[in-house]
Amino acid sequence: MKTAGPVVEPEGYLEHTLAQAVLERCDALALFTERPGQIHRTFLSPAMAACHAELRRWMAAAGMRVAIDIAGNVRGHYAAEKPMAPRLIIASHLDTVPHAGRYDGVLGVLLGLALVESLNHKPLSFEIEVIGFSDEEGVRFGFPFIGSRAAIQQLQSEHLQLRDADGHSLADALSAFAESTPEAGSAIFPENSAAYLEFHIEQGPVLDHENLSLAVVESIAGQSRGSVTFLGRAGHAGTTPMDLRRDALMAAAEWLLEVEAIATANPSAVATAGHVDCEPGVANTVPGLVRCTLDVRAPDDKQRRRVFERILAAAENTGIRRHIGVSHRLDYDQPSIRLDESLTALAQQALTQTGNQPRRMVSGAGHDAMVIAPYLRSAMIFLRSPDGISHHPDESVLSGDVAAALHAGREFLKLFPSWLESRQLSCTT
Ligand code: HGY
Ligand code: MN
Ligand code: MN
Repeated sequence: MKTAGPVVEPEGYLEHTLAQAVLERCDALALFTERPGQIHRTFLSPAMAACHAELRRWMAAAGMRVAIDIAGNVRGHYAAEKPMAPRLIIASHLDTVPHAGRYDGVLGVLLGLALVESLNHKPLSFEIEVIGFSDEEGVRFGFPFIGSRAAIQQLQSEHLQLRDADGHSLADALSAFAESTPEAGSAIFPENSAAYLEFHIEQGPVLDHENLSLAVVESIAGQSRGSVTFLGRAGHAGTTPMDLRRDALMAAAEWLLEVEAIATANPSAVATAGHVDCEPGVANTVPGLVRCTLDVRAPDDKQRRRVFERILAAAENTGIRRHIGVSHRLDYDQPSIRLDESLTALAQQALTQTGNQPRRMVSGAGHDAMVIAPYLRSAMIFLRSPDGISHHPDESVLSGDVAAALHAGREFLKLFPSWLESRQLSCTT
């Protein structure tokens, strides 16, 4: 009787099957939230711990040694044929903004996991470490990239003094976490870390507009983030004549229109006042104090800093005109960064060898890669964001694009040893 030959899987079968698993896992992790009915997962929260537990199971089943580090990053290590071989880190973040989509950050972690799964427990000549960073959005402490900064020893003492809405400092949160997680290990990338690769949704409209699945990121725009406070005088809404008011909210409103005008007048710069606090915040009191966050981005750092300064000057002028006190704060200045050219070229080669256009682009959104890149050669691969929607529940990805990312990722893994050789980081040592 004729025995059946080996099952020949149709081209792309593996990638499509894994893509389905990745999408289902994004749905599963979306359920771990601090606010039922929306996706909201922040640094070291119980929802994040539940998300880790699920992810750790998947990582272990894929043959990874799973650990958690003292910065709350979850880390799956896939051993190589030989110990201390060069290590490729594939990572992104697991925390979210409020009312988030289910793919920002999470997709990059799960694509790393799926690439390891596609190896079917077969060791490579290099190690892989898949990392889910604990805080890229900066929601809890108003300061981002805590997990990735810890990995490259860039969490400074002033960062540890930052306080969350409940008054807990970052130092408090980290020591409480260390106490409750005695097994937590070092966050620092080990000596044999050779390169960093991050998959991420584009979060903008470019690839969708050009009908492309993937692109490589050649640089990431810098960010200035801070806040502006308007101090007027609260008063009775019914008895305070309009000409005697020092209404902080009216001053802020006038200034916000100038924020828009200044950013619009500077092509490729963007400015956002994402959060406005108004005190005392009741209908029958003239607002006495208003605090606005300010986020300014631009591919060019000088231009970005100039726009930020112009916007602050506009607030001061508004204050003078309206007899309102104005103060402002720069919380952090994250420089723009070009990603490693040789690794980006390798990623581009992986894209073209798997049937994609060699599209390169600048990322307007910030990513953990921008923190890692000054310390470890880094590359990013973007997936299309349908309608450019992100930081919104309607954020989506196409399963075909996820399969294309897996196909390109597998090609990248095939090409990676040649890149290591070219950098004398050969795996044979
Ligand atoms: O703000 C950003 O660009 C990123 O989504 N954290
Ligand atoms: Mn985000
Ligand atoms: Mn992100």
